[in-house]
Amino acid sequence: MNRNSSAKIKYKGIPEELTLDAARKWAKPRVSEKRFRHVEGVAAVAKEIAELAGEDEFLAELAGWLHDGCKEWKDKDLVKVAQSFGMKLNDVEKENGHLLHGPVAAFVAREELGIKHQELLDAVSEHTLGKVGMTNLSKVVFLADCLEASRPTDFTDPIWNALKNNPKKTADLDAAMLVACDLSLEHLISSRRVIHIKTVDVRNYFLSLVKHNQ
Ligand SMILES: [Fe+2]
Ligand SMILES: [Fe+2]
Repeated sequence: MNRNSSAKIKYKGIPEELTLDAARKWAKPRVSEKRFRHVEGVAAVAKEIAELAGEDEFLAELAGWLHDGCKEWKDKDLVKVAQSFGMKLNDVEKENGHLLHGPVAAFVAREELGIKHQELLDAVSEHTLGKVGMTNLSKVVFLADCLEASRPTDFTDPIWNALKNNPKKTADLDAAMLVACDLSLEHLISSRRVIHIKTVDVRNYFLSLVKHNQ
């Protein structure tokens, strides 16, 4: 990637050699073929949403390539690595290590690829559970993970509709996040799966943002 001076500032903390193709090559051997197709899809949709929302397409696509780098690790390994870099884990996280694959992927990407760009690392880290106060880049990557083409249309259609339905905005990331959180919660309840407290906090955060924006 040739970087001009404004790109140098914008991408400070991302090694020059970490092109999108290099990120793709990093991601491929780390996951199964099926998962890699999901990763490819997320990278493409992240770029598309970033373009719609006026966010940085390079950072969005790069986070898409990196986001599931540790998704196929064993739960106990995710817990061990998360604790090794100082994450304080609650009981739900200790018992459901897969919930940590975002923060662990961010940690591993920092260690292996030398990434020091915090907003990029946060977008990778927050792609599963989100975060109260998350940046637009994090929202783009979270939504791309929900909207990737292999997801069922009864899940993706309402999120796309919320994203594109506000005539005042080119893309309504907050409205789409609220729909994505609501649908995820409904799914977690109906399939009797554990709900991380962050999922509830993040949903309430976007409910409040959307109400105030109306
Ligand atoms: Fe993931
Ligand atoms: Fe994913």
